[in-house]
Amino acid sequence: MTASQAVEIAPGAFHLPGFLPASAQRRVLETVDALASRPAGFYRPRVRGGGMMHCEMLCLGRHWNAMTYTYGPVRADYDDRPAPPLPARLARLAERAASAVGFGLAPDICLVNRYGREGRMGLHQDKDEDASTLEAGVPVVSLSLGDTARFVLGGFRRREPTVAVALGSGDAFVMGGPSRLRYHGVARILAASGPAGLGLEGRISLTFRQFALAGSRGG
Ligand code: SIN
Ligand code: MN
Repeated sequence: MTASQAVEIAPGAFHLPGFLPASAQRRVLETVDALASRPAGFYRPRVRGGGMMHCEMLCLGRHWNAMTYTYGPVRADYDDRPAPPLPARLARLAERAASAVGFGLAPDICLVNRYGREGRMGLHQDKDEDASTLEAGVPVVSLSLGDTARFVLGGFRRREPTVAVALGSGDAFVMGGPSRLRYHGVARILAASGPAGLGLEGRISLTFRQFALAGSRGG
């Protein structure tokens, strides 16, 4: 994958179609399946308003707490188990996607989302990382597996217009620099649109983040 194959959707927001070849998608899925079969596997978060999220999550590196919108070492809003470590080989994929479009990223968190046919995620900003990361525009990188998602990218206020991007299996999306705090979400999943050979029903996304810059208080 080279930067010339990336599509810049907004300054600092890049779609990298086909970033992961089929063999790499299979390896990532095997890794996710192995993590999911351990005790701290996927669960469906309940958010602070009381509703359930429309996807299941598995947090690696640090746990994202859906009640407090903060990161912590254990799944305090669910079962108090520690968040499993982020495998280095997954982190390297995200680093590569970021560097393909000119960003540095040393990921130490990955939120794995599993979406069924009715899965979705409302418009939100990723802003729970340390201020050092947010201010520097260190990107969030997503990798998609399975069914295509209608991903929507908005502005810096919830009501601003959005553009839709179809994220297919193997695509990467990088949201950094001036786009780091853009609203975004998953409007819908296109059922049975993923590659038959992958053997995944629904969609899995892996969103990688760096909690803090080295040397900052949060680091
Ligand atoms: C997210 O914004 O947290 C998830 C995005 C995705 O599933 O592609
Ligand atoms: Mn997000």
